[in-house]
Amino acid sequence: MKTLVFASNNAHKLEEIRSILGDKYEVKSLKDIGCEVDIPETGSTFRENALQKATYVKEHFGFDCFADDSGLQVEALGGEPGVYSARYAMMNGVSFEGDKDNANMDVILSKLANEDNRRACFRTCVALIYEGKTHFFDGTVEGRIIREKRGTGGFGYDPLFIPEGYDKTFAELGNEVKNGISHRARAVEKLAAFLKN
Ligand code: IMP
Repeated sequence: MKTLVFASNNAHKLEEIRSILGDKYEVKSLKDIGCEVDIPETGSTFRENALQKATYVKEHFGFDCFADDSGLQVEALGGEPGVYSARYAMMNGVSFEGDKDNANMDVILSKLANEDNRRACFRTCVALIYEGKTHFFDGTVEGRIIREKRGTGGFGYDPLFIPEGYDKTFAELGNEVKNGISHRARAVEKLAAFLKN
């Protein structure tokens, strides 16, 4: 069995990837290898950020490794929030207490208040450093931003996003449907196909 580090401590993501990869790989988290630092993500693309995290683990801990970075891109906002998805409210000078996801969504809604073009997508990039080479796997789900939040499932911008071909938001569709079509699922499927060959 080969050991691979997933540069994350997100229990849900770890569980998902372990079940897809089966028993051919032992997937360790950052905590498992004793990495306590918040690895910097200073890139201007998902690819740069994912590679930055994977490279950090390879250089400091020596393990082959993969890392992911994701976010929402809104066409009418020139691709924002993009790599700033997690901190979009803060970046726009909006102060909030506690509920970061809601504050981020409110910024999107107010910027799009007079906008008819509601097209958006979620993107994930996975960077893998494996046997001396770097590989990238991208996943995208296209959709649109609605005018008010709907649904209680998921996280982040899920209550605002309706994927193409559906009439419910990710937050209304629930995890099972979402995980079948999401940007992350699509990128992780490509990673898994590569590792299984
Ligand atoms: P991460 O790279 O997966 O940690 O995602 C960064 C940020 O992008 C999150 O904090 C969310 O704001 C947003 N995001 C990423 N994936 C999703 C998703 O599946 N649904 C809603 N928001 C997401």
